Amino acid sequence: MIIVAGSTSSKLAQDLAQVTNSEFVQASVKRFPDGECHVRIEKEKIDDEVVIVQNTYPDDKMIELFLLQDAAYGLGATKITNVIPYYGYARQDERFNKGEPLSARVMADHIQLNSDKVVLVDIHNPEMLDWFDEAESVDVHAAPAIGRYFKDAGIDLVLAPDEGALKRAGWAAETLGCEWDYLVKTRLSGTQVHMVPKDIDVKGKKVLIVDDIISTGGTIVAATEELRRHGAKSVMASCTHGLFVSGALDRLKKYCDRIACANTLESEVSVISVAPEVAKVL
Ligand code: R5P
Repeated sequence: MIIVAGSTSSKLAQDLAQVTNSEFVQASVKRFPDGECHVRIEKEKIDDEVVIVQNTYPDDKMIELFLLQDAAYGLGATKITNVIPYYGYARQDERFNKGEPLSARVMADHIQLNSDKVVLVDIHNPEMLDWFDEAESVDVHAAPAIGRYFKDAGIDLVLAPDEGALKRAGWAAETLGCEWDYLVKTRLSGTQVHMVPKDIDVKGKKVLIVDDIISTGGTIVAATEELRRHGAKSVMASCTHGLFVSGALDRLKKYCDRIACANTLESEVSVISVAPEVAKVL
C-alpha cells in the first residue's frame, strides 16, 4: 500500500503511513500560469494499492483529487482508495429549494468515477454512504481519538450541542469513562438562544463539548456562555472538522479553556490524529 498525500491533510497522511507501515509519497501540486492545476506523483510505476488522502474542500482541492486519481491509475495502481478526511459540500445533502442541486451527491458521483473505495471521517449525514454505489464506502469516527486526547484533562461530562450529535458525545465519554448528555436549544428571540443540558447539572463540572464541525464557532460560543452561567467549572471544545471561518478560532479562544480538534483540516489546534481510526478500515 502506498499513501499519497495531496495538498490537504498531509500530516494525517504521514501519520497513516506510519501507523500502517506504508510508503509515503507527497504529491507535487503546482499551478500553471493560467491557474490550472498540475499534479505529479513522483514514481516510475506503481504495482500496488494507492491510498490518496485529500479533502474536497475548498473547491480547488476537488480538482486536485480528480487529477491525483488519474495520475495513480496512469502509474498502474491496482486499487485506488480515497481517504477524504473532510468532505466539502456534505452539509448540502438535500435539495433545500426548487431548482437547487443535490450538491453532496454530485460530489459522490464524481469521486467514485475513479475510486474503488472511499473512506470518510464523521460524514455529516451517514445516509450519504449509500450514494457511493460504484465504490465501497465507509465512515470512521473521530470521537474515540478525541476521548483519548482529553484523557488527562479531568473531564466530568461530555456534551453534544444537539440531540443528533449525542452518539458522538457518548463514544468520546466512554473512552473517558465519564457521563454524557446533549444540549437542548430553545430560541428566545431572533438573536437569543437558550442552551441547557437535557438531564445533567453542570455546576462545578469540567465539561467537554464535542461537535462534528466548528465553522463560525457560533454554536460553541453560545453553549459555552450558557454552561458558564450554569456554573460549569471549565468548558473545553473539540470537533472533528475545524473549519474556523472568519476568525472563529481567535474568538473561541476567548470563551473556551481549551480547544482541540482532529487533523482532518489542518490548523494550529488540529492536534488529534485520526490515523489509527482510518488505518483500521484500510
Ligand atoms: C450542525 O449541524 C453541525 O453539527 C455544527 O454544530 C455546526 O455546523 C457548527 O456551526 P457553527 O460553528 O457555525 O456554529
